[in-house]
Amino acid sequence: METTLVLIKPGGVQRNLIGEITRRVEARQLKVVGLKLVNASRATVEEHYAEHKGKGFFEDVVNYLCSGPVVAMAVQGTNAIKAIRTMMGATNPLEATPGTVRGDFALTIDDNLTHSSSDPEAAGRELTLWFPEGTVG
Ligand code: CMP
Repeated sequence: METTLVLIKPGGVQRNLIGEITRRVEARQLKVVGLKLVNASRATVEEHYAEHKGKGFFEDVVNYLCSGPVVAMAVQGTNAIKAIRTMMGATNPLEATPGTVRGDFALTIDDNLTHSSSDPEAAGRELTLWFPEGTVG
C-alpha cells in the first residue's frame, strides 16, 4: 500500500477539472485520504520544487503554482505512485497518451494540469509538506 501526492494546478482548477480528475482517481479504486483547496505560499512551492532549483524553468513553475488556488490530494492504494503517474500521462502533454489526464485535457508543459509524486521518497517528502497535519489514511 502506498500514499502519493496529487496537485491539481491553478489551470486545472480554473478549467473546472477538479471533479473530472478526482473522478478518475476514485474510479481506479484509489482512495482519497486527504483533500484541500489552498492558495499555496511561495515558501511551500519553492520547497516542493526544490529539485528543480537552478533550472531555467524554476521561477516560472513556482510563479505558476502560486498564481491561484490548487487542490492538494493524498491518494492511497496498491502501487498508487505508479498508477497515478501513468493515469496523468507524460509530463509534456504532447507526449501523453490519449486516455490519460494530460493526453485528454492538456496541450503545453507549462500548463500540464497536475503534479504527482515520482517515487516513494518524493511522496513522503511532498505529503509532509502539503499535509503537515497528516492525512486520514
Ligand atoms: P511537475 O510534475 O509539476 O514538475 C515540474 C514542472 O515544471 C513540470 O510538472 C512542468 O509543468 C514544468 N516544466 C516546465 N518546463 C519543464 C521542462 N523543460 N522539464 C520539466 N518540467 C518542466
